[in-house]
Amino acid sequence: MLLKHCSIHLIPSACCPSMLPVRMLSILILLFSLCNADSICTTELKTDPPEIIAEYGGIPVIVNCTTRLGDHYGLYWRVGNESSDTEDEEMFISHLVPLSDWNVTAECKIKFNESYECSKELKVILFNNPEVVHSVQLVNVIGEETQYRLQCDIINVAPVQYVTVSWYKNSEKIQTESFNDATTKTPVNESSILRVNISREENVVEFRCEAQLDFGPHRPKLPAISQTHRVSAHYAPELKTQNSADDTYALEGTDIILSCEAVGNPLPVYNWICDGKNMLENTTSLSLPRVNGNKTCACTATNYLGNITKTIHLHVEPTGIYSYFTSKIVDDLDETADLC
Ligand SMILES: *[C@@H]1O[C@H](CO)[C@@H](O)[C@H](O)[C@H]1NC(C)=O
Ligand SMILES: *[C@@H]1O[C@H](CO)[C@@H](O)[C@H](O)[C@H]1NC(C)=O
Ligand SMILES: *[C@@H]1O[C@H](CO)[C@@H](O)[C@H](O)[C@H]1NC(C)=O
Ligand SMILES: *[C@@H]1O[C@H](CO)[C@@H](O)[C@H](O)[C@H]1NC(C)=O
Ligand SMILES: *[C@@H]1O[C@H](CO)[C@@H](O)[C@H](O)[C@H]1NC(C)=O
Ligand SMILES: *[C@@H]1O[C@H](CO)[C@@H](O)[C@H](O)[C@H]1NC(C)=O
Ligand SMILES: *[C@@H]1O[C@H](CO)[C@@H](O)[C@H](O)[C@H]1NC(C)=O
Ligand SMILES: *[C@@H]1O[C@H](CO)[C@@H](O)[C@H](O)[C@H]1NC(C)=O
Ligand SMILES: *[C@@H]1O[C@H](CO)[C@@H](O)[C@H](O)[C@H]1NC(C)=O
Repeated sequence: MLLKHCSIHLIPSACCPSMLPVRMLSILILLFSLCNADSICTTELKTDPPEIIAEYGGIPVIVNCTTRLGDHYGLYWRVGNESSDTEDEEMFISHLVPLSDWNVTAECKIKFNESYECSKELKVILFNNPEVVHSVQLVNVIGEETQYRLQCDIINVAPVQYVTVSWYKNSEKIQTESFNDATTKTPVNESSILRVNISREENVVEFRCEAQLDFGPHRPKLPAISQTHRVSAHYAPELKTQNSADDTYALEGTDIILSCEAVGNPLPVYNWICDGKNMLENTTSLSLPRVNGNKTCACTATNYLGNITKTIHLHVEPTGIYSYFTSKIVDDLDETADLC
């Protein structure tokens, strides 16, 4: 019976309180109090803004609480553990909410008599946009595939319940992760780990991890913060040409450049040995000035996964007398140089 009264009278009072005489309103207040005080709070107390979503440490926000009930014993704000002065007979009260306390709570309260009051909470979400640190660890190389462990550290994110970490492989979203912690309001660190196998055919693959604070439907979304890494499969050096042995012909006294190109990841380091002598050359080509005799050169391309050797036979043909003569002088000079 009582409940029926409540539901009947609640509606007109919420719709058009200004059309009702103050005395009538007071009666209605009493009726509400008897059924459910909280429903009065939700319908009769309004906060502006309805909620606060702000960056921690920003300037304090002015909040305003209004009521349509003129006849009450006081209206006030309780922010954290402190209460504002109470306004009697006023239909609104404004107050400052500081943004420098992660645990801040704000409630607008209305007193109906000395001992009875109800309140409406103003939701306050303080956030800290995180930093994102990406790291890559090579786990293993198995044949043509390389296993990587990609890690994205989300540093100082608050509140962690609103952050989503998304992984993209070459711009395509492949995984998202969120964290099951609805209670921590202060900044925390979280990590998201992605294990991937990269094949040689894939060449260079770009991975991006993105952290975004998204407060839900009809609420703001902060710009995502991301980090990108490129990874590729590792493999031992291979020669670009099929043959592991080559023949090169040259005229005596000419300058020759031998070349040896290999592919490998990481890039190979080269080493040249001609007729048993280390040429102290570590690039893909070897310069031999004024060649004066057959030589056999071996080029070895090496990385941590292995090496490959190419052998080049250099055939030097003597030229005419004049050339022979000059090259002979050069030979002698070379020998003198060697002696020094
Ligand atoms: C205050 O109001 C409540 C609810 O209407 C009532 O139960 C209580 O007796 C009142 N107290 C005083 C002191 O009037
Ligand atoms: C609070 O709301 C009242 C009533 O709507 C308005 O008159 C007053 O200017 C507002 N105060 C602030 C600080 O917004
Ligand atoms: C409210 O809490 C702060 C610390 O959070 C404390 O310094 C202050 O004394 C408290 N005030 C009251 C009125 O309890
Ligand atoms: C916030 O509240 C949590 C638990 O509710 C407490 O552990 C933490 O110390 C509080 N932080 C501050 C700054 O008051
Ligand atoms: C998060 O990591 C940063 C940087 O490593 C550190 O300074 C901070 O104390 C960490 N925070 C927590 C809650 O562990
Ligand atoms: C990567 O390859 C290894 C070995 O073949 C396999 O055990 C693992 O499940 C693969 N991981 C992924 C993410 O495909
Ligand atoms: C190749 O040799 C040069 C000079 O001798 C040296 O500076 C360079 O670091 C070497 N490169 C590699 C990849 O070993
Ligand atoms: C090349 O690889 C073989 C094994 O395949 C190893 O025995 C040799 O020492 C390596 N040579 C160099 C120069 O690294
Ligand atoms: C150099 O090589 C050519 C061709 O293989 C050969 O005919 C010639 O006898 C060689 N010369 C010497 C000095 O061994």
